[in-house]
Amino acid sequence: MSIDSSSRIAERLAEWIAQAAPGARLPSTRALVAEHGASPVTVQKALRALAAQGLIESRPGVGTFVRAVRTARPVDYGWQTAALGSPQSRIPALSTALRDAPNDVIALHSGYPDRELLPERLVRAALARAARREAALTRAPAAGLSELQSWFATELGASMPPAGAVPPTAGDVIVLPGSQSGLSSIFRALVADGRPLLLESPTYWGAILAAAQTGVRVVPVPSGPDGPDPDELARAFDETGARVFYAQPNYANPTGAQWSSALAGQVVEVVRSRGAFLVEDDWARDFGIDTVAQPVAARDDAGHVVYIRSLTKSVSPALRIAAVVARGPARDRILADRGAESMYVSPVLQAAALDVVTQPAWRTHLRGLREQLRARRDLLVASVREQIPEAHVERVPRGGLNLWIRLPDVTDLERLVRDCEAAGVLIAAGTEWFPAESAGAYIRLSYAGPDPGAYPRGAAAIGEALARQST
Ligand SMILES: Cc1ncc(COP(=O)(O)O)c(C=O)c1O
Repeated sequence: MSIDSSSRIAERLAEWIAQAAPGARLPSTRALVAEHGASPVTVQKALRALAAQGLIESRPGVGTFVRAVRTARPVDYGWQTAALGSPQSRIPALSTALRDAPNDVIALHSGYPDRELLPERLVRAALARAARREAALTRAPAAGLSELQSWFATELGASMPPAGAVPPTAGDVIVLPGSQSGLSSIFRALVADGRPLLLESPTYWGAILAAAQTGVRVVPVPSGPDGPDPDELARAFDETGARVFYAQPNYANPTGAQWSSALAGQVVEVVRSRGAFLVEDDWARDFGIDTVAQPVAARDDAGHVVYIRSLTKSVSPALRIAAVVARGPARDRILADRGAESMYVSPVLQAAALDVVTQPAWRTHLRGLREQLRARRDLLVASVREQIPEAHVERVPRGGLNLWIRLPDVTDLERLVRDCEAAGVLIAAGTEWFPAESAGAYIRLSYAGPDPGAYPRGAAAIGEALARQST
């Protein structure tokens, strides 16, 4: 039989398949041989061609069947745009910090710590124990497991001076599946739709995303290597009538700023005097290097500071557990929003996270982590200073996971990011961290990714890509 015969049989069978239901059984090879007057070899060849096109699948010993999932064909979803209309708010695309990286690149872009920085053995043991507990088969209370609520409350209370503010109680804590969704809930609950929300500029891209998603009006407050200017903040409150200011007083992402005690006091005073809230995102609580994170919430017991703290990055990105500590009606409104959003957080994850942070080995892990981050940060700073003469590190961060680097204003950031990627180095353009226009050309480099030994090479590639822009 010729090649044409097998193609002809394949064509005839494809027509039959197009009419057949997914999963329908094809006639046996013997029947096809008889039907087409062809040899078994020719029929097999036709069947192989159809399988390669994804039209059929053969199950050895059972038969050949029409595939349930047909091969991809272009589908027109244009009707959906007509049905949905224009998007209500411009939600920015997902950040570079969430991009997956192949193994062979130098990944300086990511927001999440590499595995070697995680308490891997503690996490695995905690998950195994959690799987054997009641938590594996029951639902959790809406605000979280009471023991975990207590742990978060006690941790924040421990930062308060003995004769200072009244510490929070377990009842002030709402456990969250990571702090990102908490930000959306807080903005929804405390800032009404279309009302102003003050954000440091630059600030965490996820907060900008949450603000866009919840439809609040973003008002940037400039913030530099030492944090925001309290007079600017006061002016922004007065001019806009805003009642909420989102900020990161410790090791801000991206600037690395840690507020001085004086600034923390001034900001709390501004917020108090305006009858407003400070939403304090203590994302890097476990990532102090030269200093220890000092929550501003430790200065307040009148419900002005809504405190959010995540274990996602320090315990494991696979255990997405965080908490918000809020008092009064603000707490009730945030809890109501969480209930509508996700009802409760998986108790298995809560139990495992609590298990990790209550092991004595957790403290030992954090001490080791501090030294690892210090070595990584110092190596990256040295590499940048050596290899990128045009780079200006505005602040060597005293904690956190990132370096915020200013480049010459004329830098074409998009081109720089592209050229670095072509050279096998992933970096993040600073533009993503500005709620409005960028205050300059910045890049953010993480010193928490894999393979710190590659920092000098990574910095050299950035330096070369930058040098090419001035030739
Ligand atoms: C400042 C800040 N807040 C919140 C988050 C989100 O944390 P989670 O992973 O707990 O949602 C991040 C993550 O990058 C962050 O940098």
